[in-house]
Amino acid sequence: MTRLIVVDRDGRAHDIDAKPGARLMEILRELDYGVAAICGGLCSCATCNVYVEPSWAERLPPPPERRVRPSQGTTRLSRGGLAIVVPN
Ligand code: FES
Repeated sequence: MTRLIVVDRDGRAHDIDAKPGARLMEILRELDYGVAAICGGLCSCATCNVYVEPSWAERLPPPPERRVRPSQGTTRLSRGGLAIVVPN
C-alpha cells in the first residue's frame, strides 16, 4: 500500500492507504470527504479535480494548457483525479 495524505475542503488532513496502480479518483470517491466524480471518469465533469502538493506536482505530467484557467479555480497544481495513478 502507498500512504497518501488527503486534505479535505475543511482543511483537515487524512492519512489513507491506497493500492498502487489505482486511480486517485477511484480512491477519493469512496471517501465521505473525497470527490464527487459524477461522470465516473469520463472526463466530462471535473468533479474529481484535486490540488497536488507542489513537490509532487513536479513528478506528475503537467496539466494540458487548456485546463489551466485560474478564473475557474484550476492551476498548474490542479489535476483531474482520474489522471493520477497511485505510485508504488
Ligand atoms: S470524474 Fe468526471 S472528470 Fe473526473
